[in-house]
Amino acid sequence: MIFNEVLKFVDDIVFDRTGKHLDSLQKAILRATWQGEKYSKVAQEYHCTKCHVGNVASNLWQLISKELNEKIHKSNFRAAMERYQVSNVSNYGNFNLVQKGNINLCTDNTHSPETKQTSTTTQTTNENNTRLPKLDLRDAPDIKKTFYDRSTELTTLKTWILKHRCRLITISGISGIGKSTIIRHLIPKIESNFDHIIWRTLRTSPPVNVTLKNLIEIISNETEINLPNKTDAQISLLMEKLQGNRCLIVLDDVQQILSSRQLIGNYKLGYENYGNLFKIIGELPHNSCFILNSWEPPLDILSLTDNDSAVRLFQLTGLTEKVARGMLKNRELLDEEKWQELINFYQGNPQWLKLIGETIKKLFGGSVAQYLSYQPLFLSDELTNILQQHFQRLSELEKQLLCQLSEGAKSVSVSQLLEKYQFSSPELFQTLLSLERQGLIDKITEENMILFIVKPVFRHYIKNYISHHGNT
Ligand SMILES: Nc1ncnc2c1ncn2[C@@H]1O[C@H](COP(=O)(O)OP(=O)(O)OP(=O)(O)O)[C@@H](O)[C@H]1O
Ligand SMILES: [Mg+2]
Repeated sequence: MIFNEVLKFVDDIVFDRTGKHLDSLQKAILRATWQGEKYSKVAQEYHCTKCHVGNVASNLWQLISKELNEKIHKSNFRAAMERYQVSNVSNYGNFNLVQKGNINLCTDNTHSPETKQTSTTTQTTNENNTRLPKLDLRDAPDIKKTFYDRSTELTTLKTWILKHRCRLITISGISGIGKSTIIRHLIPKIESNFDHIIWRTLRTSPPVNVTLKNLIEIISNETEINLPNKTDAQISLLMEKLQGNRCLIVLDDVQQILSSRQLIGNYKLGYENYGNLFKIIGELPHNSCFILNSWEPPLDILSLTDNDSAVRLFQLTGLTEKVARGMLKNRELLDEEKWQELINFYQGNPQWLKLIGETIKKLFGGSVAQYLSYQPLFLSDELTNILQQHFQRLSELEKQLLCQLSEGAKSVSVSQLLEKYQFSSPELFQTLLSLERQGLIDKITEENMILFIVKPVFRHYIKNYISHHGNT
């Protein structure tokens, strides 16, 4: 069963790249490699030379390597597949994929949540007898076959976690920039250093007690644990567990417990205790690491953050131009000379580039030049919806400043802003810092002066917004 899933995974890759399914010789090579058998056995079965099998295999490894962005060959194929956790729930009808060790198995979907919970956290050893962590990744996104290069970011994060032993890392960045994706791809690279890896989303804003209970139960491997009533005592209990087990805990969508319509970074009413949890995780000694993915960093964490401390902030920006070009090429867009303009406008945001790429294909047969010739640029409903979610979170002051900054075509300095508009200087400073932390404005240095400008897509959205609603 496991091998059949691997076969399907590789077949998808080969079909995507060549338009053809695996032939029987290629399948035999994969099966032999999976079972640790020699090519000569395949050659015998298929009445061909070992050299021919070697050539077919070598082409196959190259295809898989290109797709997975890592060197795959006979000796690491099985380990790599186990890491990639072949998973595509939709392919398996009534069956649900859960993880056993590092590979997904099909199980009946009718278990109770508790059964599911324990079955998603299994520990095992791999072929080399390296201990693998218990994984609970049921809230995590799947690893997709196509992953555009983020090696610089991955190296930094790996160093922070393994070498510098960071305890709390906030990954901040606008929606679609790739926070969840990059952390999902980081896990296989560092997992052997941990006893537990747990991924939870705060999308539904669970109270801190629910999150604490859940984490403690998973790390203790118990389903119904009697917890102390007070949050502080629950946090202490979690700390004990984190000291005894090396855990990597990812909390995704943290902006959902932060308040909107105020200056950013404060907790929603009733969620302030998350602040205590994060502070203790960051300040007290333990061997575990929390990663928080958020549109904006919680303010109280910022005061603990430093480049040489155990609490750090990683502001994730877009794909580099080179990588984004690769993405546009893959999506078969035309007019390469115009790609830089498109990439700059969409800030190298992989999700936005994907959305606009689809629109350009549908409306202009892939011609980027034609799309760019229509000004003002068209923002699709999907993109407008994402930008609207960010805009609605802003405080009134932030909205006002963004609207005013978006009016002129040029970047402006703090003194020009103070001269022109009715902000007090503390108000202006606080608001600029807040907008910068959310990645909504850019800072440019010109002749020793710092100037501010709204990021292009957002500026465009705001102009549309002003034309419909008037200036706030
Ligand atoms: N490096 C990448 N290679 C390929 N696809 C990517 C990459 N980064 C992101 N994507 C794709 O872009 C989309 C958005 O990525 P992701 O969900 O990671 O963003 P996010 O920053 O977590 O957004 P949100 O804040 O809304 O949760 C996904 O479809 C993802 O597959
Ligand atoms: Mg995300």
